[in-house]
Amino acid sequence: MSCKNYPLFLWLLSLIIISCKPVNKTTTMTKKIVIAHRGASGYLPEHTLESKAMAFGMNVNYIEQDLVLSKDNIPIVIHDIYLDDVTNVAEKYPERKRVDNRFYVIDFTYNELKELKVVERFNPITGEQVYPNRFPKNKGTFRLHSLSEEIELIKGLNKSTGKNIGIYPEIKAPKFHQKEGKDISKIVLNILSKYGYTSKADNCILQCFNAKELERIRKEFTSNLFLVQLIEHPEETKKLTHFATYADGIGPWYKQVVLKNKQQKWEPTSLVAAAHELGLKVHPYTLRADDFGDFKSFNEMMETLLITANVDGVFTDFPDLVVQFLKKTD
Ligand code: G3P
Ligand code: CA
Repeated sequence: MSCKNYPLFLWLLSLIIISCKPVNKTTTMTKKIVIAHRGASGYLPEHTLESKAMAFGMNVNYIEQDLVLSKDNIPIVIHDIYLDDVTNVAEKYPERKRVDNRFYVIDFTYNELKELKVVERFNPITGEQVYPNRFPKNKGTFRLHSLSEEIELIKGLNKSTGKNIGIYPEIKAPKFHQKEGKDISKIVLNILSKYGYTSKADNCILQCFNAKELERIRKEFTSNLFLVQLIEHPEETKKLTHFATYADGIGPWYKQVVLKNKQQKWEPTSLVAAAHELGLKVHPYTLRADDFGDFKSFNEMMETLLITANVDGVFTDFPDLVVQFLKKTD
């Protein structure tokens, strides 16, 4: 090759290298992201490793982990501080309920929790399945697992498939944990750090509903992770400027993002534009194909939130449908 052609050769070589390298769309977060809410929970019992593996196969960007501590300080992947609406704890350990008749994750060791069967979510008083058309209650053999076990599954799959799917852990009930003498954020941050999740480039988004706790994570623990402030009550949407002092994004309820006008047409509230103005990403929860509220269809729900309201990503129980929708609209 002559010297004259050398720059062209270099250019071609760099083009090949760039096109062979798996593109990490999620780290820079310029694309809209799909977050598997409790895994592919529309199809398999929530927060089981099976539902996480299924979500992984659906090519989501992030898989969510809600976290509660066991008696022996192991972060367990489960949505509530209670066990009795997703496990057989009431049959297995009937004498271990508290005076409020609830069974608490924090009263059981990791080994005891591993003995429990996980089932599709149900109402512990009536025994009725919450989403009747989902995975049949009391079928299958599913177990609880720790944050470490889930990270090892996702990292293992990333290695074996060449993908780069992220984790999206949530610190649950920090005040409750504190009353029980436990610092859940400290324990979770240590585990994340052990697995290499320390900065915004590490494909981990940490979320919490408790604003004081998320601020503490940024300021007291000096975490450099991408932090998302979850929003439950409408009045919290007025605190965006404060959230922007420590968070990178917000996770509002979808009804805070869009509403129907007098002509019964969906239109965005001011929330997304205000958040974007402050440099905050917006990831509303939760898009469900079997519970799409006042929308005419799940498609209308996806279109209104992702296109009309221009959010940056969504939590969904049906990740395959949102992945397909975004592919079509890309
Ligand atoms: O964490 C955001 C999303 O998961 C909604 O909250 O109650 O399902 O944990 P939740
Ligand atoms: Ca959550």
